[in-house]
Amino acid sequence: MNMGFVSLVGAGPGDPDLLTRKAVRALRAADLVLYDALVDRTVMRIAPRAHWFYVGKRAHRPSVRQETINALMIRAARRGKCVVRLKCGDPFVLGRGGEEALALAAAGIRFEVVPGVTTAIAAPALANIPVTHRGLASGFVLVSGHDEAAYGPVLGSIAPGSATVVVLMGLRARVDIANLLMGRGWNAATPAAVLFAASTTRQETWIGTLGALASASVPSAADRPGTIVVGDVVSVGAQLAGMTAEVQDEASIKRA
Ligand SMILES: C[S@@+](CC[C@H](N)C(=O)[O-])C[C@H]1O[C@@H](n2cnc3c(N)ncnc32)[C@H](O)[C@@H]1O
Repeated sequence: MNMGFVSLVGAGPGDPDLLTRKAVRALRAADLVLYDALVDRTVMRIAPRAHWFYVGKRAHRPSVRQETINALMIRAARRGKCVVRLKCGDPFVLGRGGEEALALAAAGIRFEVVPGVTTAIAAPALANIPVTHRGLASGFVLVSGHDEAAYGPVLGSIAPGSATVVVLMGLRARVDIANLLMGRGWNAATPAAVLFAASTTRQETWIGTLGALASASVPSAADRPGTIVVGDVVSVGAQLAGMTAEVQDEASIKRA
């Protein structure tokens, strides 16, 4: 029997230029692409001949069940198809990619993992915020803000200010997360940022403090994904924003 193959591919934060070359190769070879809600539609242009099938899951909305996604991958591979399972960011970062790999392995399907640029690092980086910075943070903690039972014990266990905190899927819970950190002794003046739709045309950056993160001053998500960053490293982004604005001003003065 001609068995197919599945590539579990990370699509990065949205901009197709942030796909890896290996991801592009896998997409060009694909018969079927099973893609997530947060995969930018412009990526579709890379594989126009493939059949694109939406299997997105968004919080609090009707979603395709994980078992159904696993079954679709397995069935197509058994029919000899080249399948790309395209997930935003990196497939193994808060994206259930590990479960999909286990399901494929259990079904005896050949597969590969194509790592992607995770939004946990890329969204801050695109706002000039390094998640680590000598003298400010020598590590970062990544949590899902989807469920207090998941982020509570992790955030509660880190000493205030000792690491950068990055939260994915945390926009709805941002007030609870900010209050939890302040309740654990984090200073309300700690810099914080929310990076909306990083790398896309709808990108927007909010920079403020942990205290303000718990207030209404953050722009509405307007159906955009967002990444939250809390820690002194945010000040580097703010500093660089000022410096790059100065450089741009100087350049426009020189051009005039
Ligand atoms: C289910 S998680 C998947 C994370 C993904 N596997 C990764 O490595 O980035 C989806 C979350 O990633 C974040 N996210 C995805 N795309 C984003 C973008 N373009 N800008 C900011 N955050 C984004 C949001 O927090 C969103 O709720």
